[in-house]
Amino acid sequence: MSFDAAMRLAIEQAELVKGGTYPNPPVGAVILDQGGEIAGVGATEPTGGPHAEVVALRRAGARAAGGTAVVTLEPCNHHGRTPPCVDALVAAGISTVVYAVNDPNAVAAGGATRLAESGLKVVAGVLADEVAGGPLREWVHKQRTGAPHVTWKFATSVDGRSAAADGSSQWITSEAARADVHRRRGACDAIVVGTGTVFIDDPKLTARLPDGSLAERQPLRVVVGEREISSDANVLNDDTRTMVIRTRDPHEVIKSLSDRTDILIEGGPTLAGAFLRAGVIDRILAYVAPILLGGPITAIDDVGVLSIAHAQRWRFDGIEPIGPDVLLSLVPK
Ligand SMILES: NC(=O)c1ccc[n+]([C@@H]2O[C@H](COP(=O)([O-])OP(=O)(O)OC[C@H]3O[C@@H](n4cnc5c(N)ncnc54)[C@H](OP(=O)(O)O)[C@@H]3O)[C@@H](O)[C@H]2O)c1
Repeated sequence: MSFDAAMRLAIEQAELVKGGTYPNPPVGAVILDQGGEIAGVGATEPTGGPHAEVVALRRAGARAAGGTAVVTLEPCNHHGRTPPCVDALVAAGISTVVYAVNDPNAVAAGGATRLAESGLKVVAGVLADEVAGGPLREWVHKQRTGAPHVTWKFATSVDGRSAAADGSSQWITSEAARADVHRRRGACDAIVVGTGTVFIDDPKLTARLPDGSLAERQPLRVVVGEREISSDANVLNDDTRTMVIRTRDPHEVIKSLSDRTDILIEGGPTLAGAFLRAGVIDRILAYVAPILLGGPITAIDDVGVLSIAHAQRWRFDGIEPIGPDVLLSLVPK
């Protein structure tokens, strides 16, 4: 198997555990035996558990000797809740380590150097962009900035409407797109809406599986705004925890969630406009449906732009068909 193919498998493994490894990063690892065949795969286990390399090494057993470890993040070089992964790789007799992203965390970094000093061949940067923009996006952002990564996600008709003229908005996008949203909910740490969405849609804001049952992992639900919401609101049901933040200040909201890594803004046009004006959005995910709604209810309110010269400019970093819809991923230009 090629290094690229093994790294893609490691990325898939990492995506499976995204959201469940805090404060550790969601990492995937694949061990190839001496003949280049897959001997073991693994991903970071929940907090306090072994790192991806150790899980994959255990599965590979004796076949790891003389083989290659393919890992999405530079193996760690420090003793945290578990011993350094570099020691485990050396002890297993691995001869080559291939990884994607350098560890930005000064405490754990230095793994590549230690491995090279121990006589292993080290190949860095394989599919680095795919990993840094994929499973490690939010964790790397938090390591670099100290702040949580904030994504605004919305569903829209192709003409930029988030509801029909009478306010009805369920469902703009397809079942496939909604399943993708539920998967993302299960992988994030908090979902934020404004009181307006609670009053109009009364959403549960839980992560659900295609059969409607609750996913194993639920993010914190967050409602933002000065009005009091009804104690009967679905968002306050017993499915999982909810935080109500009585403010309209996006910075205050982010501060209240500063211990989190991955925040999903799912509010309506008012909240989205406020967060975009405040400059606190790191990524936009637009699920665009091939329908036309017209009318006055736009997907986003004022973003503080009065002339085209002052337009907020973003760039596409991903375009993906999902069923009949398209998912656009944008990051600041
Ligand atoms: N298509 C989509 O993806 C999508 C997603 C969500 C909702 N929606 C639709 O959006 C509609 C609801 O729109 P909405 O704009 O009322 O919902 P919203 O943005 O979720 O909530 C708006 C409320 O948030 C509070 N708020 C918090 N911070 C604010 C700030 N900085 N500035 C102003 N207000 C702030 C205000 O309530 P207080 O008065 O309590 O302070 C405001 O009325 C519904 O029809 C829903 O279906 C669509």
